[in-house]
Amino acid sequence: MEPKPVSFSQTTITELMIPSYANFGGKIHGGILLSLMDKVAYACAAKHAGTYVVTVAVENVEFLQPVEVGQLVSLLASVNYVGKSSLIVGIRVVAESIKTGEQVHTNTSYFTMVAKDEVTNQPTTVPPLLLETRDEVRRFLEAMKRKELRKIHRTELDNAKTSLEVAESLNLLMNERAVVACEL
Ligand SMILES: CC(C)(COP(=O)(O)OP(=O)(O)OC[C@H]1O[C@@H](n2cnc3c(N)ncnc32)[C@H](O)[C@@H]1OP(=O)(O)O)[C@@H](O)C(=O)NCCC(=O)NCCS
Repeated sequence: MEPKPVSFSQTTITELMIPSYANFGGKIHGGILLSLMDKVAYACAAKHAGTYVVTVAVENVEFLQPVEVGQLVSLLASVNYVGKSSLIVGIRVVAESIKTGEQVHTNTSYFTMVAKDEVTNQPTTVPPLLLETRDEVRRFLEAMKRKELRKIHRTELDNAKTSLEVAESLNLLMNERAVVACEL
């Protein structure tokens, strides 16, 4: 399979934030941004894979800066990493004021997508990624590291769930804002 350069599938979506996207506080719903992120991740990953893809995992989604009605939001996506059938797409979200041109980087998230064979619906191999710049090499290596850390984290979470004794852990709730109102 021929490697494809990162630039081949780089995709940007720019969308105007209209009033119907707003929540009761007048800011843009997080779900609107998530949907746009999923859309750009799909376009970018499907272009690299040359087949359809599904979203498997979403990482690092934090909305620390509110997005306002009237702003232009751009989502810049590029494939950071490929495995056998999986791809990690990095998405940088930037909100721009049309009046002043001021840009705010609202978040960077990582979507794991898996390429599927259209006939069998099974995961299918994607082309290798051609890394042409130092940044592209760095992003690939960072994605490998995050993947490894996620694996460790998932194992720890599974262990925490299976080893947790509710009755013996009640002291942990002492400084929490929770009131236990049931028999244990
Ligand atoms: C994701 C899915 C294809 C995995 O199927 P599977 O039979 O477990 O396939 P595999 O174990 O061979 O995994 C395929 C790839 O997915 C990756 N993967 C599976 N689960 C993962 C997870 N939780 N996080 C990140 N990657 C994951 C594997 O690492 C593997 O990557 P690789 O081929 O690059 O090594 C399957 O679970 C699926 O179709 N899920 C539904 C996805 C979907 O519909 N999304 C839309 C949500 S509405």
